[in-house]
Amino acid sequence: MQLNCDFEKRAIVLPEDYQFVSSPLAGVSRMMLDRAGGEVARATSIVRYAAGSGYSSHTHDGGEEILVLEGTFSDEHGDYPAGSYLRNPPGSSHQPFSCAGCTLLVKLWQFAADDRQQLALDTRQQNWRPGLVPGLSVLPLHEHNGVNTALVRWAPNTVFSRHVHAGGEEILVLEGVFYDEQGRYPAQSWLLNPRYSQHSPYTGEEGALIYVKVGHIGAGLLGDRFINTEHQTS
Ligand SMILES: [Fe+2]
Ligand SMILES: [Fe+2]
Repeated sequence: MQLNCDFEKRAIVLPEDYQFVSSPLAGVSRMMLDRAGGEVARATSIVRYAAGSGYSSHTHDGGEEILVLEGTFSDEHGDYPAGSYLRNPPGSSHQPFSCAGCTLLVKLWQFAADDRQQLALDTRQQNWRPGLVPGLSVLPLHEHNGVNTALVRWAPNTVFSRHVHAGGEEILVLEGVFYDEQGRYPAQSWLLNPRYSQHSPYTGEEGALIYVKVGHIGAGLLGDRFINTEHQTS
């Protein structure tokens, strides 16, 4: 499968586009945002665990990044409530489950080969920093080789300057409504802006909270090997 993994094209998924499909494990379903590969894939998905469901023990050959969106996610190492940010590096393993159910953003095979940092952050317990313009506050989550991941809170009616994403940009809107000159993106919207794309984002009366990653498009991450480059030019 090759879904939204052409690094030269913009991709957008809006809340009304969500369609969850069953995973091979009972009670676990997923909404695919991007995917390259077969059963093993470089993939970004919204994953839902029904109450009492779990996954078999597995090793993350290409690394796994998780943001807990709702509920509480667990594995043998701990319980991770909504707002938790986890990075399980290449070679790590675990057996995940959820007692009461949860919804996650999951990114697989999007680690650099030398990124071995294990991370479990409770973003609700961290200190936010002022952003580049009034109204923005930033909670950095992770940085490695120019790939930056953060949560950014936008106060109502914040306007950010026009900027270029040399290494691409991925956004998941977590709360409120995010805008740029190309559209309106309510909570649950997902955007992939290609390398060297530009935009002028802003918020309205609602403000917004977004997850944002920059620098990873075409950065030579482990799972880039699954991307069919023939598909990109066809
Ligand atoms: Fe996992
Ligand atoms: Fe941007």
